[in-house]
Amino acid sequence: MNIIITKDYQELSEKACELIEQQVSKKPDSVLGLATGGSPLGTYQEMIKGFSSRGVNYEKVRTLNLDEYIGLDKNDSQSYHFFMKSHLFDYINVNADNTYIPNGKAPDLDTECELYEKLIEDIGPPDLQLLGVGQNGHIGFNEPGTSFESETHIIDLEESTRQANARFFDSLEDVPKQAVTMGIRSILKSKRIVVIASGERKAEAIRQMLKEEPNENMPASALKHHKHVTLIVDEKAYKKAGHGEETQ
Ligand code: GLP
Repeated sequence: MNIIITKDYQELSEKACELIEQQVSKKPDSVLGLATGGSPLGTYQEMIKGFSSRGVNYEKVRTLNLDEYIGLDKNDSQSYHFFMKSHLFDYINVNADNTYIPNGKAPDLDTECELYEKLIEDIGPPDLQLLGVGQNGHIGFNEPGTSFESETHIIDLEESTRQANARFFDSLEDVPKQAVTMGIRSILKSKRIVVIASGERKAEAIRQMLKEEPNENMPASALKHHKHVTLIVDEKAYKKAGHGEETQ
């Protein structure tokens, strides 16, 4: 695993954006795997700047998102569809028809999962997958205990995940209890994975990911099975994880 340590979240976001822009300039019709949550927000800001000031062109790019809450309509302001539009897609020249996110309101969710996995095969796998890490080590919405062989599936969200994500909702009760997520095997199909982690609350997940043997209780540890992973981590997360200068 290639590790890039940055002084802060801003530098982390710039680095992640730089890798995405390099990918898109090398292959204008790249497939980008995209993530939601707080971690990629800065990266998306930088990508928007790159589009407007550096002329980065997303016209031929296709995107595949990792996950979506079950039960939320695409237009619901808490849905990941809405998140992607309002934080990135509306501000760059990606074609909306080329952006894919699981449908959390599909009438038949099992079929939705099968179709999404087929889509990953058909248009993907991503040339580059941007990935955040949950505090409990989840990737996408693959909670601890998820099989490393899993493909796109329905997941029951852990209470701790719902609590961590409640900050995006009016109240904890509003946070859905389930999601559709790419599985761990689906994520590992990506040609390159860029993991971003910032702040002390991610330190324990990063410590386990780097130091422990791959095990299904720590979904992010599956990344050790992948040949081309870059971890971009800020000093706060990295030091607290027990690397570099010790903090208490
Ligand atoms: C959510 C998303 C994950 C994301 C995680 C971390 O649960 N499904 O893809 O990595 O949150 O979130 P944050 O970046 O807000 O800490």
